[in-house]
Amino acid sequence: MTSTDPAPQPHATAEQVEAARHDSKLAQVLYHDWEAENYDEKWSISYDQRCVDYARDCFDTVVPDDEIHRLPYDNALELGCGSGFFLLNLIQSGVARRGSVTDLSPGMVKVATRNGQSLGLDIDGRVADAERIPYDDNSFDLVVGHAVLHHIPDVELTLREVLRVLRPGGRFVFAGEPTTVGNSYARTLSTLTWRVATNATKLPGLGSWRRPQAELDESSRAAALESIVDLHTFAPAELEKMARSAGAVDVDTATVEFTAAMLGWPLRTFEYAVQPDKLGWAWANFAFSSWKVLSWADANVWRHLVPKGWFYNVEITGIKPS
Ligand SMILES: C[S@@+](CC[C@H](N)C(=O)[O-])C[C@H]1O[C@@H](n2cnc3c(N)ncnc32)[C@H](O)[C@@H]1O
Repeated sequence: MTSTDPAPQPHATAEQVEAARHDSKLAQVLYHDWEAENYDEKWSISYDQRCVDYARDCFDTVVPDDEIHRLPYDNALELGCGSGFFLLNLIQSGVARRGSVTDLSPGMVKVATRNGQSLGLDIDGRVADAERIPYDDNSFDLVVGHAVLHHIPDVELTLREVLRVLRPGGRFVFAGEPTTVGNSYARTLSTLTWRVATNATKLPGLGSWRRPQAELDESSRAAALESIVDLHTFAPAELEKMARSAGAVDVDTATVEFTAAMLGWPLRTFEYAVQPDKLGWAWANFAFSSWKVLSWADANVWRHLVPKGWFYNVEITGIKPS
């Protein structure tokens, strides 16, 4: 983080939460500062081969092969980096030599910078609003983001900013954005899972699975903020149109995870609703292997059977005209 960056605020007061109801950027900072230190654990993020491969697959899915053969890019920027999952793992996979991890949440920048430094990567971190990127024109060869566009009020303005800071011919890749159809089934399944798990653990004999009420209440408060910070879902064609109207060329989208998302969201919600020590290594193994199997079926079978927009995640890429 730079010396002028604001400090993280991990414990929002009731007044701040109330103010955040009418200020989506304050909500982003409070919500993501609150979850920053536990973010990797919450989302099972790691910086080993499992997540290196995942990040790299996202990248390779939309970037043309001839460009992949010319890797690495010299200098990359990540917007909405969170704990650094996407760019740190992409650098480890050989996509870029160095990078800047940025986020609106100071808490996230602190964690991402710490993660990058402990991996020994050549990175720096800075608090930055994606709608007003605090870097000069033509500064980066690659701009990436994962699960960030849907949080930003003006996505087209952000894409214009991305093109401004890219060098001519530079590429952007945004992955992990919810499609409109995918978001509706993921939310429905997650809400149902939460209700069933939190009610079932009230039953006699299952009390030891129940999280302490204070933790469940905190999760409910966070969920209230989450509904304020999730601003958009995307239809792939609309997202492409937005990128072209921002000035990008060679725009393309891909979608991933259909049945894998239908399984993944309830599993993650269940993990969050019960005592973590009840679910050991066998559960983690089951969750990851079943997600892998379903992801394979999505990529090789369902892709040919259902419309692109039914998949849960959309990725978009494009380049700045030379
Ligand atoms: C769902 S998290 C994703 C984090 C990380 N990219 C990942 O995939 O694990 C979204 C991140 O976007 C950040 N964010 C939200 N609005 C932003 C904005 N206007 N500019 C920059 N970052 C923003 C949040 O603070 C949060 O860290």
